[in-house]
Amino acid sequence: MKVLHAAAEVYPLVKTGGLADVLGALPEALMAAGADVRLVLPGLPAILEGIDSPKVVCELGAAFGAGRVTLRLGRLAHNQVAAYVVDAPYLYQRPGNPYLAPDGGEWLDNLQRFGLLGWVAAHLAAGELDPDWTPDVLHAHDWHAAMACAYAACHPPTRAGVVYTIHNLAYQGLFDLGDFSLLGLPSRLLVPGGLEFHGQLSFMKAGLKYAHRITTVSPTYAAEIATDAFGCGLDGVIRARGSDVSGILNGVDGTVWNPASDRLIAAPYSDRAPDGKALCKAALQQELGLAVDASAPLFAVVSRLTSQKGLDLVLDALPALLDGAVAGGAQLAVQGNGDPALEMAFAQAAATHPSRVATRLVYDEALAHRMLAGADAMLVPSRFEPCGLTQLYALRYGTVPVVRRVGGLADTVVDADEAAVLDGRATGFMFGPATPAALAQALAQAVSAYRQPALWRRLMLRGMAQNFSWAAAAGQYMALYREISPGAEARTLSA
Ligand code: ADP
Ligand code: GLC
Repeated sequence: MKVLHAAAEVYPLVKTGGLADVLGALPEALMAAGADVRLVLPGLPAILEGIDSPKVVCELGAAFGAGRVTLRLGRLAHNQVAAYVVDAPYLYQRPGNPYLAPDGGEWLDNLQRFGLLGWVAAHLAAGELDPDWTPDVLHAHDWHAAMACAYAACHPPTRAGVVYTIHNLAYQGLFDLGDFSLLGLPSRLLVPGGLEFHGQLSFMKAGLKYAHRITTVSPTYAAEIATDAFGCGLDGVIRARGSDVSGILNGVDGTVWNPASDRLIAAPYSDRAPDGKALCKAALQQELGLAVDASAPLFAVVSRLTSQKGLDLVLDALPALLDGAVAGGAQLAVQGNGDPALEMAFAQAAATHPSRVATRLVYDEALAHRMLAGADAMLVPSRFEPCGLTQLYALRYGTVPVVRRVGGLADTVVDADEAAVLDGRATGFMFGPATPAALAQALAQAVSAYRQPALWRRLMLRGMAQNFSWAAAAGQYMALYREISPGAEARTLSA
């Protein structure tokens, strides 16, 4: 089974969120399951630098506004997974965030930048760019790679089955309809039943309309996006795909996230020898300038600061966490960047309570490991969450998650209600309504459990024993690939 993954991010080279972690781990898990996997990535500076001995596969000449496009093939330096890189300096040779210009707005030519990525992926899938390797399955991730599905559907020689994975339905890749002609696609696609979305051109819809199968990253989110509340205006399109849509839960890359072997944390620990965690906590409190106090429950946030993540609820619940009757006496450490208003509010909270609230408005992979290891509990109060990886890492690090009952959070955390505590299944705390009061109540429950050391230890150890493995996810993707690879019957779709 030859599988080509098309995506814009891959850990550790380019990462803005969990998408990169998925592309950093899933290919190897699929290879362990027997697949022959390659990636196709945009030639961003960090990607070109992170590829070992790239060779020219073909010169594509001028395309999508770029004067020169070269397709190279090499191996990712850190794990030796084979990767095609679309080297188009005019479009990709830019520092910083892959999607945003230094002024914080989208790059004005994102349509061309990610249209080209999809175009190359589709032509690789049709066997036209690399005569030595034609995939059986093209697997495109998020709107950045979604156009691959439209190009493949418009190109009859394509035999590959096409899978599209939604990592986040809220980011859709919307562009001016007038720019459609830059994509070189037939105009019959520019209808509401095709790529048009309320007077705009939607890359997301290319995946939703033209892939043979659609997946998202948890079963609960797969059900949620078929509803008005979570469908971001596309729930009708998703419902129309019926059983073509499914949810496959992400996993944890144990080579990166494992407290027993993590070199980025103050002391290693494991479920059998958990003592190092107390050292990690003291080291983190010291590093962040918090009171070094083993008895104060330390809650952490490691997150993009966006409305998705519900962190305004944390700000509103902060008085309860710091001074409330039950939850009082806790500490809060926040790492993240994004929305300026949230950044300012968390910085302000830290300035007001310097020994009890710490804020680091940075993107810093090593600090994220120290936060995961040093905190007692991890807050993920998201308004919606396709899967969520930080709560999975938290479980692994014995850092008890406090999450909202939504999407992948609901699928991966077992709330410490009475029954689950009694029978030992509980791994964290969950709240329902997206309100400060509901979060404050979950925080109070968490602090009260923290004050019962035997109970807290049981929660920690149960969480550490969870196994969210990429092997399990890879097995499910392989089954899906088999349904749609060339020769399989269950394929009916063309543009
Ligand atoms: P999302 O992809 O929606 O941001 P996930 O929970 O799936 O959410 O993945 C987030 C990933 O990004 C995790 O690996 C998390 O550790 C990382 N992350 C988020 N914010 C930061 C930050 N400020 N510094 C370092 N890593 C971060
Ligand atoms: C998205 C989602 C997140 C998910 C990640 C990886 O960024 O917001 O929930 O874990 O993709 O699939």
